[in-house]
Amino acid sequence: MNFQALKLAYFSPTGTTRKVLQSIAEGIGAENVEHIDLTLPQSDDGSITAKSDELVVMGVPVYEGRVARAAIPRLERLKGDKTPAVIVVMYGNRDFEDALIELSDLSKEWGFLPIAGGAFIGEHSFASVDKPLANGRPDAEDLGKAKDFGAQIRAKIDGLEAFDDAALVEVPGNKPYIFRDRSAWEHIAASTIEETCTLCGDCVDMCPMGAITIEDDAVKTDNMACILCCACIKGCPVNAREVNNPDIAKIFGWVCKHYQERREPQSFV
Ligand SMILES: Cc1cc2nc3c(=O)[nH]c(=O)nc-3n(C[C@H](O)[C@H](O)[C@H](O)COP(=O)(O)O)c2cc1C
Ligand code: SF4
Ligand code: SF4
Repeated sequence: MNFQALKLAYFSPTGTTRKVLQSIAEGIGAENVEHIDLTLPQSDDGSITAKSDELVVMGVPVYEGRVARAAIPRLERLKGDKTPAVIVVMYGNRDFEDALIELSDLSKEWGFLPIAGGAFIGEHSFASVDKPLANGRPDAEDLGKAKDFGAQIRAKIDGLEAFDDAALVEVPGNKPYIFRDRSAWEHIAASTIEETCTLCGDCVDMCPMGAITIEDDAVKTDNMACILCCACIKGCPVNAREVNNPDIAKIFGWVCKHYQERREPQSFV
């Protein structure tokens, strides 16, 4: 069985999900790979259809053990037509908990047939040089594993007479999905170190939620819109963005203390 096009669809504020999807695509070995980058707010426009003879690899980061909430309305734009899909979640070396099973269920709702799934590790969004967690990941070893996963997917597809024959993948996770009430934190946002900021405007362009504006020669952040994805923190050329909140520092400190042991990617085909 062959497919007509390979589409990579992702929400990836700090870029680790995109990297892994690219290596999976290399392993699948398609000639034409189309990127559907759903990270920025301007990507939130109209629906995109994936045909039944196309293959979609969809990827999202894990936030709080679940699919990052903000990724859902973006990926929901993709409508499958019994389209085979590879589902991928990216997590920061703690755990992916129920994110993969949730993405599997969502993909079915959107018209896809999830035929393979993977959980990969990326540098934790909150990680820094001072507080490292999975820094530099996905590294060469991770990307090699992503490529091998792609090759396994290709072998599975090559062995099919029709996509309808593909067994749907079973992935780990619990139902009901885990729920952590973080409503008390909804107002917490990244902020600007004004003495360091050069007002270059890069953070405005990279924020997935359109939460940053420059007004009256100052960077303003909409506290309720910020999802703490850390794209602006990792992307600011002069390190002038931070999350300056004692509760977040305490929780991330605890995660760093308990989850330093290297976790390895898992794949399900
Ligand atoms: C708000 C938030 C919650 C997160 N929750 C988890 C988690 O539950 N488990 C985990 O291992 N990593 C967690 N992470 C880390 C991200 O899943 C990880 O860094 C991922 O690689 C980011 O993907 P991206 O580079 O595509 O944005 C969280 C990150 C953020 C910003
Ligand atoms: S990217 Fe950094 S320096 Fe540029 S405007 Fe934003 S906070 Fe300021
Ligand atoms: S302001 Fe918030 S949502 Fe926007 S890039 Fe920064 S951390 Fe992410």
